Amino acid sequence: MTTATARACANIAFIKYWGDRDAALRIPSNGSISMNLEGLYTHTEVRFSPELKKDTLTINAFPISGPGLARVNTLLDRVRQMAGMRLCAQVTSQNNFPVGAGLASSASAFAALSLAASAAAGLQLSERELSRLARTGSGSACRSVPGGFVEWQAGESDADSFAFSIAPPDHWALADCIAIVSQAHKFTGSTEGHARAHTSPLHLARQAEVPRLLVECRRAILERDFETLAVFTELDCHLMHAVMMTSSPPLLYWQPATLSVMQAVHAWRKRGLPVCYTIDAGPNVHVICERGVAHRVSAQLVEIPGVSQVLVASPGGPARLEIR
Ligand code: PMV
Repeated sequence: MTTATARACANIAFIKYWGDRDAALRIPSNGSISMNLEGLYTHTEVRFSPELKKDTLTINAFPISGPGLARVNTLLDRVRQMAGMRLCAQVTSQNNFPVGAGLASSASAFAALSLAASAAAGLQLSERELSRLARTGSGSACRSVPGGFVEWQAGESDADSFAFSIAPPDHWALADCIAIVSQAHKFTGSTEGHARAHTSPLHLARQAEVPRLLVECRRAILERDFETLAVFTELDCHLMHAVMMTSSPPLLYWQPATLSVMQAVHAWRKRGLPVCYTIDAGPNVHVICERGVAHRVSAQLVEIPGVSQVLVASPGGPARLEIR
């Protein structure tokens, strides 16, 4: 096969990846746990051809060059090395996320690229091998390879740093109501952010806590214990943003509306709604709730000044090849 198409979901981490042990291989400082997001997809086609003189990349029909293409190029080089081939590739990628929503797409993008490129090169990688390959493109992409609720074991080397499913998508009817906060300014990307984590005096304190957070989060998911999930998800979100804010130079991702959503979620939870939040390297707020209240939660979120739209996603499946 020289052409293949794959689809992968984005994911949201309850316990976050922030900081690398090895930046080049994206071996993280700590393990993390996430949920794939059904409906937020990247579709990627990879075509290897002797007619191509160099690798090309288009995302949502726009040709990409510079650092974006270089990152794809590096992953394709790994695939070529594994397959013992030298052909260049045409990579055509589409995100179905709303344009301009400020949602990071690198996890779904590198998971879909890894699967499409390896299949197009004739490789049949195991889920673990694919997760390791995706990790080298974007750390969190390794968690978009398996399905449902996923844990990334940090490991110490390329061989033992990969993600695996801890529960299938239908294990727990949760929803992620993503509150898109308007006026999102250009922010520092996560690759640069991970490099800065070590400059924070709080980084080692968070690292010391993460093993306990992973145990609690894993247990909360397996037992469908929303209150425990809420407490530890928010605790790690606050710990990670404390590290970001105290890095040199500091990283401050929140907008005023980010805080409005956080305060509203606390008030709703106090009144008994099963709801909590987490925030990635940007101003948008992922409001996690039980699916039965997702409609109500998203209707209340759009009423908050500064929230321009709300996307709702349920737990998603693994990266998969698309047969055309
Ligand atoms: O995979 P990266 O380099 O885009 O890093 C992801 C970082 C966070 O989204 C902030 C946390 C996470 O675990 O997804």
